[in-house]
Amino acid sequence: MKLRTNRASPFARKVRIAAREAGLGGRIEEIETPVSPVAANDELARENPLVKIPALVTGAGEVLYDSAVICEYLDTLHEGVKLFPAAGPRRFAALRLQALADGILDAAVLCRYETFARPQPLRWAEWIEGQQRKIFGGLAALETGVDGWSGEFGIGQIGAACVLGYLDFRFPDWDWRTGRPRLVQWYETAARRPSVRDTAPS
Ligand code: BEZ
Repeated sequence: MKLRTNRASPFARKVRIAAREAGLGGRIEEIETPVSPVAANDELARENPLVKIPALVTGAGEVLYDSAVICEYLDTLHEGVKLFPAAGPRRFAALRLQALADGILDAAVLCRYETFARPQPLRWAEWIEGQQRKIFGGLAALETGVDGWSGEFGIGQIGAACVLGYLDFRFPDWDWRTGRPRLVQWYETAARRPSVRDTAPS
């Protein structure tokens, strides 16, 4: 399998962590792919019409995207502890946590583009503040929920680790740790997992 990825992308990191947690790291060739919110990329567009990473080319030559779909597909390829609970309330709790993490990441990546890629005269401060409200509201929900994760490291926790890693990477001055002691404690342990260490953004 081939994974189009980018070492700075938190969504690609979700897939890279999931692959390692599922014991599939050795079966996936990671292809570092430059990304831009504005530049054309015909090669990537042939695989994903949205011109986004991550995109996975399966062994059968199918292309899968986005990160949630790829992670769920990878979870069908192994017999170990599943990243997605099969059914019932645990499944929907995991999917909701994944959606929460993905939503925080969407807002954080938009802030990154707004502050880094958009020319200064075109920046819109209120819009960035709106995204930050989503991010900090999402972090509050993570802080409230973390005690219920009970040692699990499934798709929702993978997403949470990618959120905190991305905030450290791109927005270190936002100081997500202050006032979130339980999340800090959880992340200290999560960040030591080989899958998380091995995929640190750069
Ligand atoms: C970043 O550089 O922050 C980034 C790269 C790829 C996707 C999303 C974000």
